[in-house]
Amino acid sequence: MPKTSSVLAYGRQSIDGKDIAAVTRVLKSPFLTQGPAVEAFERDLCAYTGATFCVVVANGTAALHLAVAALGLKPGVSGVTSPVTFLASANALVYNGVYPVFADVDPQTANISVEALESSLRRDTKVIIPVHFAGRPAPMKEIAALARRKKCHVIEDAAHAIGSRYADGGRVGNGAFSDMTIFSFHPVKTITTGEGGAIMTNDKMLYERLRRLRAHGMTRDPALIKKSPGPWYYEMQELGFNYRLTDIQAALGSSQLKKIGHFIARRTQIVAAYNKAFAHLSCLRTVATDDTLSAFHLYVVRLDFARIGLTRREFMEKLSALGVGTQVHYIPVYRHPYYQKNFKVAFSGFPEAERYYEECLSLPLFPAMTDRDVRKVVMSVGSLLPKS
Ligand SMILES: Cc1ncc(COP(=O)(O)O)c(C=O)c1O
Repeated sequence: MPKTSSVLAYGRQSIDGKDIAAVTRVLKSPFLTQGPAVEAFERDLCAYTGATFCVVVANGTAALHLAVAALGLKPGVSGVTSPVTFLASANALVYNGVYPVFADVDPQTANISVEALESSLRRDTKVIIPVHFAGRPAPMKEIAALARRKKCHVIEDAAHAIGSRYADGGRVGNGAFSDMTIFSFHPVKTITTGEGGAIMTNDKMLYERLRRLRAHGMTRDPALIKKSPGPWYYEMQELGFNYRLTDIQAALGSSQLKKIGHFIARRTQIVAAYNKAFAHLSCLRTVATDDTLSAFHLYVVRLDFARIGLTRREFMEKLSALGVGTQVHYIPVYRHPYYQKNFKVAFSGFPEAERYYEECLSLPLFPAMTDRDVRKVVMSVGSLLPKS
């Protein structure tokens, strides 16, 4: 068994007795998978976000993979996403034979910049994948208007942003600004199913295709089958996958979703405490957390390591020795050897992402943190920084 560590993680799940009871009920029921808990979780996610349809899948990466696949794009077209994201946002394009293009980020928020996005669009760009970085929604009204003008689809990568609200109102995932929105339910995310993901959409055709793609491209729908020889019959009409979520996971998801308001409220409190404690430190600035729209998945600070007199590695090691875990979100995707080898993206095209990457560090942020934990983070970070 792995040793439990006294170092605070940058993020972790909150599981209580109700979650355990919900999972146990499924374990004692006839259906471990393909049963009623899956559809119940899908209904719960629709009710929470305001979307009409939901397809839950094995993880957020599968959700992105299927969302791009459901658009049925011709191989060789291109898609644009942010470089400051987890690999999956760009990999979903590559899985589907879509050429990945990156657009630089806004220096205040680390979300995709609308200006950079506009200049990155090519004649063959067919899809834009904005990422709601750290939970703060990207400027969706502007992105949706641009996408309409350029006849591009939009898939929101809201892996960080279940429970966040758009600047114009409405919950992320309601479909007001995009064709589809995806969520991830990995344990560091706002709610968890262990591994898990979901695609939200208001488009019935996309919904039906997503359901088929989740299960090998198969259908049993009599309306889609020309001639059915009998009740056992199913047909594979296109190449799909097994990306199903189990009932065990779905029951955990529904139980977690009931508590999302509390989770976000606690995250918001911790962010407010950090912001207040760090406001006077000139070597540290926060990544635009002073809004009320974010569900606050991550608390990222930007540090002036030269003035602090430590490298990021030294800073992280010293914090770890004080019991504070940190992480870097993210290495810009184009820097990874696979992307360099296959797509040869020049770092110089992304001055903001590069500067961000040099300076960023995520501090612990999760609802189970106590006030004492928060003080420990504040004091430990403070102890390594010049006082003004
Ligand atoms: C922005 C973003 N997109 C997609 C994913 C993929 O989600 P999953 O880990 O559930 O596959 C993640 C996960 O870390 C993420 O942070």
